[in-house]
Amino acid sequence: MEKVLVLDFGGHYNQPIARKVREQNIYAEIVSYQKITADEIVAQGYKGIIFTGGPDSVFEPDAPHCDAAILSAGLPILGIGYGCQLIAYMAGGKVTYASEISEFGATELISDGSELLDGFPPVSICWMSHRNHIKEAPLGFHVTAYTERCPVAAMENSKDHIYGVQFHPEMIETEYGELVLHNFLYNICGCVGEWKMDRFVEEKIAQYRERLADKKVLLALSGGVDSSVAAVLVNQAIGDNLTCVFVDTGLLRKDEADHVEKTCRDILNINVTRVDAADRFLSALKGVTSPDEKRRIIGEEFNKVFEEEAKKLGKVDCVVQGTIYSDVLERGAGDITFSASGEGALHQVVEYDEMAEPLRSLFKDEVRKAGLALGMPEEFCYRQPFPGPGLAIRCVGEITKEKLETLREADAIFREEIAKSGYDRFTNQYFAVMTDTHSVGVLGEERVVGSTIVLRAVTSDDFMTADWSRIPYEILATASARITSEIPGITRIVYDITPKPPATVEWQ
Ligand code: XMP
Repeated sequence: MEKVLVLDFGGHYNQPIARKVREQNIYAEIVSYQKITADEIVAQGYKGIIFTGGPDSVFEPDAPHCDAAILSAGLPILGIGYGCQLIAYMAGGKVTYASEISEFGATELISDGSELLDGFPPVSICWMSHRNHIKEAPLGFHVTAYTERCPVAAMENSKDHIYGVQFHPEMIETEYGELVLHNFLYNICGCVGEWKMDRFVEEKIAQYRERLADKKVLLALSGGVDSSVAAVLVNQAIGDNLTCVFVDTGLLRKDEADHVEKTCRDILNINVTRVDAADRFLSALKGVTSPDEKRRIIGEEFNKVFEEEAKKLGKVDCVVQGTIYSDVLERGAGDITFSASGEGALHQVVEYDEMAEPLRSLFKDEVRKAGLALGMPEEFCYRQPFPGPGLAIRCVGEITKEKLETLREADAIFREEIAKSGYDRFTNQYFAVMTDTHSVGVLGEERVVGSTIVLRAVTSDDFMTADWSRIPYEILATASARITSEIPGITRIVYDITPKPPATVEWQ
């Protein structure tokens, strides 16, 4: 399969670049500049390399520099931001700092046609974010774009296939950003665009059919998108040799456990064993108020329940996990292969020979597309994210059955009103939080003290940052009126208007 390397120089640029490359139907892998040499890059058959941006200055002593032989490896290279400056610096150009040349934000770009900028009009808008700049392009490079302040906004050495842009083509604000990537990937690297989700899914099914034939395979189904897609994929490969254990922690949203079980069993034809463990989780969480403790206890309890169920199956050959690419990047794991040794918490509780992680190379949006390619219902694949520890971290303070019940109802009303209004298309995650704040209210003639519910809705691409959703007042008013009149004990509703940062999406 053709693939491109995204060589990561730190900062937050790696994932947006890899995603934009994959959106052009070309598979991209992110590897840290420290972890790969020129020889390894060539041996692994990459069609090209993209150097990412980064927060450092190339001329500082500890600045990240890659293996210098990468520049002469003969593969096409595109440097972006810091990556462009690094190319200039390593190839003998001049990179310097001058405060009057710093640029941040949308900037007019003047370009005069080139291989990389083929199709650009003479003037367009690009996104800039740099303090340092390239004062002089290296020998053999010619400058193909500039801005009012920045003398080298793009440069290229078409003989050696090395290109650089000071601006950020991966940012939506760069008008012709996709064209830069398209020109580089298709015209310069010679890619043909074979990374398509239906093909990925077909290949994985065939691979697992062979690999897991006649094996006893187990999967812990959380009800989330990742584990469900992994379950459907492996199920289509080996049918009922896959057993899915769905642990109902009692911390899911209203009717969700039934919905997950029904969808998996009746629509997706997966072999599911549901374990109702709500009471166990509730007693394990009794008296616990710290969010970290809640997360730890839930993880432990989950493993215990799963282990008990697994034991009933006898020896298991393979455990499937719904690990996705961002989990792999967070863990810092390098290779994207079938793991024969097994890893992760499950290994401590279930004995098995190997672990399969069929979604290990996919970003979240690709997992959703894989779900669609597998024939899963759209509303199932595009459900909003829901944290693993569930309502436990949306119930501030000690968790009780009553608080959970109240939260579940309030959350259901809020979600229903958002869905009814059609506003679910404009917000990416929305839910209710049960606080441990009490406030006074009036009930008929009486003053009463009741609970405070927070409504939270955010818009976000990746949940690393998020903004609070500007939900129309009418929707909030209806949700508030319904919650206070239909659910006893709630005297106050507040709407959370904090972006991330400084707040997080969840309250705990
Ligand atoms: P925060 O609150 O960190 O949330 O801004 C970002 C995204 O992550 C989800 N989240 C979690 N997901 N286990 C999970 O599986 C957790 O402990 C957890 N905490 C937050 C959150 O719902 C949001 O989508």
